[in-house]
Amino acid sequence: MSDSLTPSPTHFSTTLATWYARHQRPLPWRATRDPYAIWLSEVILQQTRVAQGLPYYERFLSAYPTIRDLAAAPEDEVLRHWQGLGYYARARNMHATAKIIAEELGGRFPTTYAALVQLRGIGPYTGAAVASFAFGERVAVVDGNVFRVLARVFGIADDIARPATRAIFQRQADALIAAAPDPAEFNQALMEFGAVQCTPAKPDCLFCPLRANCFAFEHGMVGQLPVKAKAKPAPTRHVHYVVLRWAESIYLRKRAGGDIWHGLYDLPALETDAEQLDSAVLAQQLIEWQATAAPTPSHLAEPAPTYRQLLSHQKLAARFHEVELLQPLTASTLATSGLALYSAAEIEALPKPRLLVQWLAENG
Ligand code: ADE
Repeated sequence: MSDSLTPSPTHFSTTLATWYARHQRPLPWRATRDPYAIWLSEVILQQTRVAQGLPYYERFLSAYPTIRDLAAAPEDEVLRHWQGLGYYARARNMHATAKIIAEELGGRFPTTYAALVQLRGIGPYTGAAVASFAFGERVAVVDGNVFRVLARVFGIADDIARPATRAIFQRQADALIAAAPDPAEFNQALMEFGAVQCTPAKPDCLFCPLRANCFAFEHGMVGQLPVKAKAKPAPTRHVHYVVLRWAESIYLRKRAGGDIWHGLYDLPALETDAEQLDSAVLAQQLIEWQATAAPTPSHLAEPAPTYRQLLSHQKLAARFHEVELLQPLTASTLATSGLALYSAAEIEALPKPRLLVQWLAENG
């Protein structure tokens, strides 16, 4: 879809460099060439925006100033620092990769894109970011910002929701970075341009230095590019958490099973098709736990408030059902269920899913 107004790679990269010199935000990970700090920042920034990511970055770096410190940390603690960012597999992969670098690579990061992407959790995006920012390698980063800028300027109408489309944008970005004087700066500038100037809604086209060369601006298609097919509506999962209270403490279990909450501490839960929990289902579960509870869980009479969370592929609708135990759970129940009793202070220090953090803040 490109045509005669398309900028040459040299024009694009010099225009971008001039813009970046004036408009870049001072961000701490731009003031370092330490691959560990850069990697940390990029992993965090894949999960959240700059403003929310900054405090996580600072906290991680002060808790773990070097990759050896991160490698030596207990997983619970690493996940607790990550709490709130979501997609905990990123944190677990980061921790696993830190151990490999610390223990098998002498604490030194691989210095090339090709070697970096061999590591767990380092894909093309993170590999290109670390290789260019820390080691000056000429390899283009392609993230959501880059999709947007290139789709608009060059009139690329391929659906960015399709995995195969990435290669089209990677080729375009690699052709552009080939003409850039400084590949690290080119990559930072292109992402910054997407984040600050060529924003998803209301981009600042009036003061855009690439306006005369922008396919989307010329054709009145800024609102249509990039093209992203709508995802199927996410199904709703109804989760009924059971809060087993004993002696000012609560029973939690550490999640296994390899889902997105693996490694986090959570309440036991029942899943149903309905927003309401059938009291017989809860009663049956209590029998299985050999739990002696106050006679009728009276809260079932009134609808408990529903806590909602939107994930990338599902919606969660959770309710919390409190049960006052008359005795602690038996040793055999603890062994089979994986439950253990935690005080409020212990719970505070554990890594937990967002809905539990929210519920505890209101009811803990
Ligand atoms: N988003 C992802 N990487 C970034 C970076 N290095 N600077 C600003 N925003 C980013």
